[in-house]
This record gives sequence, structure tokens and C-alpha cells, in this order.
Amino acid sequence: MKFHLRSYGCQMNRLDSELVASKLVQAGYEPCEEESEAGILLFNTCSVRDHAENRVWSKLGALRARKEKEPDLLIGVLGCMAQEHKIYLRTRMPHVDLVCGTMDFGKVDEYIAEIREKRQGLVQTGDLASGDEVVRDVRLRPNRAQAYVNIIRGCNMPCTYCIVPATRGLEVSRPIAEILPEVESLVEDGVTEVTLLGQTVNAYGHDLPGKQNLARLLRELHALPPLRRIQFITSHPNFLTRELMETMSELPRVSRYFHLPAQSGSNAVLQRMKRLYTREKYLARIRDLRDLIPDMEFASDWIVGYPGETEEDHELSKSLLEEVEFSQSYVFKYSPRPLTVADDYFEDDVSEETKARRNQELLELQGRISREKNRALLGEVVEVLVEGPSKKGEGRYQGRTRRNRIVHMDGLGTAQVGSYLPVRIDEAMHHSLVGTPVGAHELE
Ligand code: SAH
Ligand code: SF4
Ligand code: F3S
Repeated sequence: MKFHLRSYGCQMNRLDSELVASKLVQAGYEPCEEESEAGILLFNTCSVRDHAENRVWSKLGALRARKEKEPDLLIGVLGCMAQEHKIYLRTRMPHVDLVCGTMDFGKVDEYIAEIREKRQGLVQTGDLASGDEVVRDVRLRPNRAQAYVNIIRGCNMPCTYCIVPATRGLEVSRPIAEILPEVESLVEDGVTEVTLLGQTVNAYGHDLPGKQNLARLLRELHALPPLRRIQFITSHPNFLTRELMETMSELPRVSRYFHLPAQSGSNAVLQRMKRLYTREKYLARIRDLRDLIPDMEFASDWIVGYPGETEEDHELSKSLLEEVEFSQSYVFKYSPRPLTVADDYFEDDVSEETKARRNQELLELQGRISREKNRALLGEVVEVLVEGPSKKGEGRYQGRTRRNRIVHMDGLGTAQVGSYLPVRIDEAMHHSLVGTPVGAHELE
């Protein structure tokens, strides 16, 4: 029996999909790229913005006809939308057989068997605090050299716009004694770059006994020499402790690209978002980290058009973006979400037109800064981890620098995927670079 599984969400959602695939393969199912050839269709979904949900609703709507013709086709919705809509998802889409929440996917094979046996739908959106981990088959992962590792699930923050705490539940950290063996087996299987995942990844460990925190975890991982790159996403400014900063500065294999979402540059907006920091405090954190690691690069998420955001507030976001000189910005138009404070108490009063313009302005500003930063790399030789065929085609391959910049390269093949090459930068675009591998040998 073949299954087709597609992810619609963040890195954590993609890792969950890998774990579901792992579980299904262990139970004897076969993964399959082609949707039309699969007897089981699974969608791992995201609720963070209206747009993310609409893509899934229309996908499900379009499957109604196929389900009528093939009643044995099994359709399952997993992840954040399942957790959010629960039984009502089947009220709206009765041809969906399985609704499986963010904490229940460890038993997805059993649920599928039950649905097929009883020939009736199943909704599993149970205990948000169970924190059960699926036993991971480390061999099942999309990239040979790179792997995600979950270290803390859920989110305890009160950000007023965000549905994630409702779909993911309260924070539960995995003990270091559980994470280390997983990373060790990934490393034995060829992984050289790990990305540690959490919604507030730098709050890791506060719920664990003894002194288990991100700084200590990074030190322990740094002691596994085959690991060449250690990254972690996403951090919250309030948990960026002195100890964490000093640890990062002492560990050269820890990424020099730091994703630290600001969301807004206006204190009035930050306060209404309940981000629990001010622009000044955010800037002080950036300064402290740059004092310790002068070449540290930063990336941010921004929300434009949050309720009550004025033109002055928006200008403050622009000036913060310029002041920090971020390397990358992910900009989102505010989208009211059910189960959030902002949706309950504030009117979505910034017009779609204004949101679109503000979105564009931040992107243009970021584009200019990124291009300048990219230009500064012209002629330099940088270390690139080759990831696979270039998404832009043309027979090229692409990889990433230590600072998360995408580099497109000619003259490589599958044999080089997963290797670290010295690459000279020849061309600088807004969002990527073009380079030539130099020197015949792989970097040691
Ligand atoms: N835990 C991470 C990621 C949360 S979701 C963090 O705190 O950084 C990823 C991004 O989506 C957020 O950083 C935010 O910029 C955006 N986002 C969340 N809720 C949103 C909403 N209702 N409308 C628009 N963007 C939203
Ligand atoms: Fe959402 Fe805020 Fe938690 Fe991030 S920290 S997941 S934005 S509530
Ligand atoms: Fe991720 Fe979307 Fe859920 S961002 S945590 S898949 S709501």
C-alpha cells in the first residue's frame, strides 16, 4: 500500500512529517511522490495564517470527486489544522477519513488500520501535553548531510496574534540524554549539519531537572567532531541569555546566522502584541551578541498591518530593519486567527491595500540591504555545503554558506551532494549568489 505525504507548514511540521513517514514505513507502507498512485493521502497542515489554511481547504475540496470514484482512498489531515478544527474539519470536509492532531501522529499507522477495518472516519486530537516521541528511524530523511532535531515542543508565550500555542500546547523539552543519542546516530549515518527545532528554541530546558539548557546542549553537540554546522531555530529575544551568547562565541561550529524575530520596531505595537520586550531591549541584545561575535548575521520575521498599526509604527519597523542591517527578513501581512487574543479583542483595521504596500516596502528595503551584503562577497572564497540540484534548474547545483546564503554552482553532480567545497563568489543577486568551486579537494 502506497502513501503520499505533503507538508504545508514550518520546519517543525516538516520534521513531524519525516517522523510520520518513518512510522508508516516501519508498518510496511511505501512512500510515493505521485499523489495519483497513492491509496493513502496525508496532508500535514499549518494554521498560522489564513492563506496557509486556504491552500489546504481547496486541496481537500478538489479531492472530493476522486474520493467518490475511489471510496477506498484514505484521506488524512494531520498537524495544526487538525488540532485547531478537530471534529469540525469532517463537518466541512466529510470525505476526510482521518483527523490527527499535533500530539497524536505517533500512532498514525494504528489509526489507518482502524479506519480501514471499521470503514469509518476517525478524529484523534487528544492530549496536547502528552509529548510522546515517535521512535525515529534516522535513515529516513530527505538529505544525507542535514537533519532536523526536535528539542522543545509547544510554546508558552502570549503573543496575541499567534495560534501556535493553541495548536501545539505547552512547552515540553526533551532531556539531553534523549537528544544526544539521536544526534549521535544521525552523525553515524552521515549527518554533518543539524538544525535544532523549537518555537522558542532558546527557552529549551527550563522544564527539565538539573541544568539542562541550550548552552549546555550546544557544548555537548560541539564535542561530536563530525558535526560541522550546528544551527537552532527559532529564538525569542527574551531568552537570549548572557550564558548562551558567550557559549555561542566560544563554539566556532555554531551557526553565525541568527534568526531572532523582531515582529515590529514600534514599542506601541510590540506591547499590543505582548512580545514582552521593547525596541531598545531588542537592539541591546543584538549589540551584546555583535560585541562577542562581530561577524554575526541576523534574520527577522515581521508582521505588517497588526491592528492599530499606524504609518509611524510602520516607519519604526523600517528604521529597525535598517539599523540592524538584517541579512534576511520574512514579512507577513497580519491575518486574524481564531483562538487568539488579537482576534477576540482587536479589529483587523488596517486595509488589505495598506498591508500589501507595507509588506512591499519592507521587502524592498531588505532586498537593497541583502544585495549590498551579497555584493561584498564578490571575489571571496566561502565554504559551501552542497545541498542538491538548483531550484532554478539549468543543470546547476545549489548549496549554503555558513551564513545561510544560497549559492548556485556549475559543474557539480550528485557525487558532491553533502560535501563542503571552497567556492569563489562571481555574481551577487538579491536572494542568492553564483559561484565557482575552486581547488580540487573538499574542505577539511
Ligand atoms: N515560534 C516562532 C515562529 C512562529 S510562526 C517565533 O516565535 O518566531 C512564524 C511567523 O509567522 C511569526 O514569527 C510571525 O511573524 C508570523 N505570524 C504568526 N502569526 C501570524 C498572524 N496571525 N498573522 C501574520 N503573521 C503571523
Ligand atoms: Fe507564536 Fe509567539 Fe510562540 Fe512564536 S513565541 S510560536 S510567535 S506565540
Ligand atoms: Fe508550524 Fe504552522 Fe503549526 S507554522 S507550528 S505548522 S501553525
